[in-house]
Amino acid sequence: MTGPPVRKAIFPAAGLGTRFLPVTKAQPKEMLPLVDKPTIQYGVEEAIASGIEEVIMVTGGGKRAIVDHFDRSRELEHYLEERGRSDLLHILAEIDDLSNQVDITYLQQKEPRGLGHAVWTARRLIGDEPCAVLLADDVILCDDRPVLKQLIDAHRTTGATVLAVRRVPRNEVSRYGIIETGGSKGGIHEVVDIVEKPSADDAPSDLAALGRYVLLPAVFLELDRGEPGAGNEIQLVDAIKRTIGTFPVVGVEFAGDYYDTGTVPGYLRANLTLAMKREGLREELAPLLRELLDGQPDRL
Ligand code: UTP
Repeated sequence: MTGPPVRKAIFPAAGLGTRFLPVTKAQPKEMLPLVDKPTIQYGVEEAIASGIEEVIMVTGGGKRAIVDHFDRSRELEHYLEERGRSDLLHILAEIDDLSNQVDITYLQQKEPRGLGHAVWTARRLIGDEPCAVLLADDVILCDDRPVLKQLIDAHRTTGATVLAVRRVPRNEVSRYGIIETGGSKGGIHEVVDIVEKPSADDAPSDLAALGRYVLLPAVFLELDRGEPGAGNEIQLVDAIKRTIGTFPVVGVEFAGDYYDTGTVPGYLRANLTLAMKREGLREELAPLLRELLDGQPDRL
C-alpha cells in the first residue's frame, strides 16, 4: 500500500520532567546525556536514518539548551581550531551535519497540558499527511534498521497508524499502555484496543506501547477535540484509540535495544550499560563496578 511518505517528525520535549528534579528545573530532560550525548540527539539521528526530512521540536519554557545544541557554536569551534583539536572539532561537525540533513523548527507548547496536546501544537506544520512522533527519553538502538524506519515500513505496507510495542513482564504492565490485538502477522499486530496502565489481571496482552509512533491525520482530528483524559491531560493514546474501528492501527514488535531514560533508575541503567559497551570506558569502569560490588557478593 502506498500513501504519502512520512517526512515529518515531532519531538515533544515540553514536559516538566518532575521525576528528574532538580536537574530539569532549568533544562529539558531531553538534554540529559547517555554517556556524552543528549538523548534528543540519539532521537534526531534515528529520525534522519529513517528518512525524515523535517523535525519539529515542541518545547516548553526552557528550550534554549536544545536550540543551542543543534546550532553552530562558532566560539567553541574557534577555540578548538586554535588549539588544533581536530578530534573534538569532528564531534561538532557531526552535530552540524545533522542540522544540515533536516530542517529543525521549534514550537512552544504554552502550557504542559499533556503529550497529546504537545503533538497537537504541531498540527499546522504537519498538515494532511502522516507524521512520526519520537519521545526522546525512550532511546532505542538498532544496528540493522532504526526503529522509526521499522514503523515507517509497517505504515507503508498497512496504511495504518503505527505504535512501537515490546513484550514486558506481567508484573510491569501497569506502567504502560497495553494493546489488545486482533490478528498478528510477522511481528505486526492489529490493535483493537489500548488499555492505559492496566493491572496484571486486566491486561489484554503483554505488549506495551513505547515512545515511537506514526500517526495518520485522523489522530489530529481527534486531538482537535481537546478532550482531557487521565491526570486531566490530553493523552495521545486516547486520540489514537478513538480512531480504532474507523482507521487501521497496528503495533510493531520492533527489533532493537530499548533504554527507558525517563526515570532515574532507568537512566542510570542505560548509562552504565552503554558506558560498559564503549571501548576506553569499559576498562575504567569494570574494576570500579567490581570494587563497589565487593561488599555485596550476592549482587555479583
Ligand atoms: P512524560 O510522561 O515523561 O512526562 O512525558 P514529563 O513531564 O516529561 O516527565 P515527568 O513525568 O514529570 O517526570 C512524555 C513525553 O511527552 C512530553 C515530554 O517532554 C516527554 O517527551 N510532554 C509531556 C510534552 O511535551 N508536553 C506535556 O505537556 C507533557
